[in-house]
Amino acid sequence: MSVSCIARNELRTPSRNTRLEHAIRTVLLSALLMVPALAAGAGETKPPLRLCADPTNLPFSSDDPGKPGLYLEIGQAVAQKLGRTVSTNWYKSYFGKRTVRETLLSKQCDAMVGLPLIDDFMGPAVIFSKPIAHEGYALVGSKDRKLAGIDDLRGLRVAVQYQSTPQNLLALRDDIRKVTVLSPEEGMAALEQGKVDIAFIWAPVAGWLNKTSYGDKYQIVSTEGDGLLWATAIGFAKASGALRDEVDGVLPALQPEISALFAKYGVPNGAPVKFGEADRATTSSVGSSEPVTVGQAAAAEKPVQTAATAGDAKGDATAGREVFNGTCAHCHGPDAVQAERKIDLRLLKKRYADDMESTFWKTVHDGRPAKGMPAWKDVFNDDELRNVYVYLQSVQDTGGSN
Ligand code: HEC
Repeated sequence: MSVSCIARNELRTPSRNTRLEHAIRTVLLSALLMVPALAAGAGETKPPLRLCADPTNLPFSSDDPGKPGLYLEIGQAVAQKLGRTVSTNWYKSYFGKRTVRETLLSKQCDAMVGLPLIDDFMGPAVIFSKPIAHEGYALVGSKDRKLAGIDDLRGLRVAVQYQSTPQNLLALRDDIRKVTVLSPEEGMAALEQGKVDIAFIWAPVAGWLNKTSYGDKYQIVSTEGDGLLWATAIGFAKASGALRDEVDGVLPALQPEISALFAKYGVPNGAPVKFGEADRATTSSVGSSEPVTVGQAAAAEKPVQTAATAGDAKGDATAGREVFNGTCAHCHGPDAVQAERKIDLRLLKKRYADDMESTFWKTVHDGRPAKGMPAWKDVFNDDELRNVYVYLQSVQDTGGSN
């Protein structure tokens, strides 16, 4: 396995010696880690735990043994508890589903640390450990600024990442000036250069940069709400149930160590600020200042229409909204608020008029796989999908222009 490890690195970046050095050092490190396992050796040595990881994705993982990254260190801690060593299978773009398919599901590795714990992440093909942490978006600003909720952003210039939940969330707020950036790095730079007052960006990278490049100068406040914060876990292929159970068995004892690792890499893992639905939905709702989570607020304040009033399809809009925000919102935005018009599902009625319903069923049943829209007919039954449709009907944009 050591040899294949090096070979992979060479293939990936043939021109860079440093990579090879890193790989060799990693192998040496693995050899060192092997010693305690052998010493402990009651009976035969267990095979190493094979982790898939991205070699250039700090704060999560890197092939620099001096700075292996949060996920790799969590993986190493888990392996050690199981009396196993770790071998790393380097893979670029760790997060993509395609990567998961080519690595975890093709048995290139036993586990991937830090996958988002969403039921629909890869369907039933991927199973998860208990949650290990929460990740998402954070507000970053100078330490003397009050950042207790969305209304503290009023009148400010806020950096948001292109096509991110924060961008969607702030899209309807005329009283907050959005400055679109392409990456959390760019958001931090805009903050540092005084181009924005706040950066509302991907928290782990913000925390890591704050720690390593900005001398811990900024406060980082995690946010909570649909698409803003989610649990992450260790993912396994479906057939690895026994290994998953073993890992679950050791995780509770590892929580303090895992928390310490979050701190080491500057990745926020603290109590988040909750964002209010009323705040987000319209600029005129000044009244409620009590912060609440996005989901709860809407359920409490604005019961969506149900079958009786929802038009031609029978279904339950509240249940539909739940499915939507749990699954579809990752791409189409929480409550279908989406800045990118092409996937703005509030425009379905305008776009398709009388064909709205037939377009919905065809698209949702079969997907448009080439365009990135998955097929859902094997995931939800038609009653559930009808609920989603009824919910979407209740949020159609009926305004004037286009
Ligand atoms: C992984 C991202 C993703 C998820 C999750 C997703 N969609 Fe989509 N969806 C897309 C993309 C991308 C398109 C646009 C495809 C295109 O360009 O034609 C789309 C298009 C659609 C359309 C057609 C829009 C139009 O104007 O033609 C509908 C309806 C739709 N999605 C409904 C849903 C529903 C309902 C769910 C949840 C059950 C869902 N989508 C989940 C990515 C996603």
